Amino acid sequence: MTSPAVPLSLLLLFAILSNTFADPDPLQDTCVADLSSGVTINGFVCKPSNNVSANDFFFDGLKNPGLINNSLGSLVTAANVLKIPGLNTLGVSLARVDYAPGGVNPPHTHPRATEIVFVLEGELEVGFITTANILITRTIMVGEVFTFPKGLVHFQINNGVGNASVLAAFNSQLPGTQAIALALFAASPPVPDNVLAKAFQIGTMEVDNIKSGLAPKK
Ligand SMILES: *[C@@H]1O[C@H](CO)[C@@H](O)[C@H](O)[C@H]1NC(C)=O
Ligand SMILES: *[C@@H]1O[C@H](CO)[C@@H](O)[C@H](O)[C@H]1NC(C)=O
Ligand SMILES: *[C@@H]1O[C@H](CO)[C@@H](O)[C@H](O)[C@H]1NC(C)=O
Repeated sequence: MTSPAVPLSLLLLFAILSNTFADPDPLQDTCVADLSSGVTINGFVCKPSNNVSANDFFFDGLKNPGLINNSLGSLVTAANVLKIPGLNTLGVSLARVDYAPGGVNPPHTHPRATEIVFVLEGELEVGFITTANILITRTIMVGEVFTFPKGLVHFQINNGVGNASVLAAFNSQLPGTQAIALALFAASPPVPDNVLAKAFQIGTMEVDNIKSGLAPKK
């Protein structure tokens, strides 16, 4: 047998890769997550279709500003598959972020989604950092939209005098969030001090200072 010009295995690899730029496509109309099931798959198992109702596709938790209860001055309220079980397998979700004056949504990534935000109120400085370490940044105002590409580190800060808020959309039912400072300095068990000291070119005492500043407040 002569081998084709492009090996089948390579085509298969491309087919698989081209499918990994967002959540996988659904194989049925709906697959409302059974969040109580102990069975783990890539996503959630579907609950019986005769037990599906409109409320599985509904959420009213983005109506009002979230109560900002942290020292960052910002609060993310997610509307993902954990809140809207009907989103399971559909590859989209939303969040609302509220910012007090001076509030920051600190540098973080979403490993599974591109994010696009629409400013509901106020104005924000936003930015993401490319893999070439170039900062792409600007100010966005009410009614304006900005995009944070999948997986890239990004942030928003409210340098205005009033509150600000955005509606954020994601091409994943559960984009995942990894906050850079917390991932490195508040992991459990901790990332070794000498790893962080070398990485940041600082002393281990400075590492410990940062760690204690980020430790969950008792
Ligand atoms: C239907 O859903 C409710 C809650 O969502 C659950 O308590 C109940 O066991 C389900 N019934 C069936 C037949 O799956
Ligand atoms: C802040 O509020 C959110 C819900 O609005 C809650 O999930 C979170 O645990 C709260 N954090 C603190 C530190 O109270
Ligand atoms: C900012 O938001 C807080 C919390 O929702 C609210 O108490 C306050 O009145 C708002 N300030 C302004 C200027 O709208």
